[in-house]
Amino acid sequence: MPTFDVDAVRAQFPALSIEQDGVPVALFDGPGGTQVPASVIDAVAAYYRTSNANNGGEFLTSRRSDAIVDDAHAALADLLNAADPDEIKLGANMTTLTMHVARSLAATFEPGDVIAVTCLDHEANVGPWRSIAADRGLELRTVDIRPDDVTLDVERFDAILHERPRLVAFGWASNAVGTINPVAELVRRAHEAGALTYVDAVHAAPHVPIDVRAVGTDFLACSVYKFFGPHVGVLYGRRDALDSLPSYKLRVAHDRFETGTLNFEGIAGARAAVEYIAGVGRRYGADHAGSFPGMDGRTLDAHAGMAAIRAYEMPLFGRLLDGLEAIPGARVWGITDRARFAERTPTAAVTFEGHPAEAVSRALGDRGIATWWGNFYAIGPMERLGLEPEGVLRIGLTHYNTAAEVDRLLAELAAITGAG
Ligand SMILES: Cc1ncc(COP(=O)(O)O)c(C=O)c1O
Repeated sequence: MPTFDVDAVRAQFPALSIEQDGVPVALFDGPGGTQVPASVIDAVAAYYRTSNANNGGEFLTSRRSDAIVDDAHAALADLLNAADPDEIKLGANMTTLTMHVARSLAATFEPGDVIAVTCLDHEANVGPWRSIAADRGLELRTVDIRPDDVTLDVERFDAILHERPRLVAFGWASNAVGTINPVAELVRRAHEAGALTYVDAVHAAPHVPIDVRAVGTDFLACSVYKFFGPHVGVLYGRRDALDSLPSYKLRVAHDRFETGTLNFEGIAGARAAVEYIAGVGRRYGADHAGSFPGMDGRTLDAHAGMAAIRAYEMPLFGRLLDGLEAIPGARVWGITDRARFAERTPTAAVTFEGHPAEAVSRALGDRGIATWWGNFYAIGPMERLGLEPEGVLRIGLTHYNTAAEVDRLLAELAAITGAG
């Protein structure tokens, strides 16, 4: 079994050879959206060449299109280890799908009911719940964070559960600082208190294997453009949870959650993105297969692939962290204890004393290095940490980043902040 070969991985991603001033760009913007392998690009193009038609027609291209959409549901069910492809709903993006579920759930809640969100989450898993709370007269509670390591305040979580909330919405991982929540444990406690759970896995999906059945959540949402595919949103809803919901739907529509005409070409690419991850698993995942008892086929391949990706990413993150901590005035927010790397993704939120994140990000961009700055819609943690409005510099590693790129970034950062 070959060890993870980052050069072989990179060769599959055409955009990684884009040059700026004669030098390849270094892309640390993954948490905002990753690049896609050629197989995904080809799948999107092939859709247009061979299968472009609306759904449900009694002719070749429509049948092909329907088969691609069915295959994509099955592929995404495998990626998330859902029991059934019908538990997967595709849409424009995570935010839109979450708005739809929130509106549906709202119809089942009564004024005065409690629902809970967290102050660690992206606004996409806060705003929809805030909106239905205002519309329906619900009591909205917010789980706080512990500012020192930017983890959820689990005592506050438990205290809110004593109020018997109808729903608790939280993230799998923070897109701002990379904290991974103890999802299975939080779901277990929420269920014990009689609450439904809605998990935002958008930031987690490119970094960790996701097993919806192992964590037992009622709902989970993610976005394919964050894991090497096109701009398509994915909702998982356990069958009984989905079936129990009313929803806004056209009289004639075939599905209550997949509204309107879907992005078929993107969905073709979404299927290819899962195949890509499964391919990583087939090539580099053998050492990890034992971590997923009971899985087989593409489900096992995809999970082993994500585990192989994680095994490559976290040591690379250690290298990044060592370098950042050596820059005078740099502060990395969130978990930095190497013994606790299992509780984070390879996404660094950094501030530099005397150097606003925007200026640092722009200077890096001028040198061919892509990072993000600001709050990334994760307004809760940024406000709580006193980091608004300047925000942080976000350096997001993915499995196609290299040690050489990390070293180049660190050297540039040292020069930009005057430490080099
Ligand atoms: C953690 C997290 N949740 C939700 C979203 C929103 O996803 P989408 O763009 O698919 O609506 C993002 C996007 O950055 C995110 O990082």
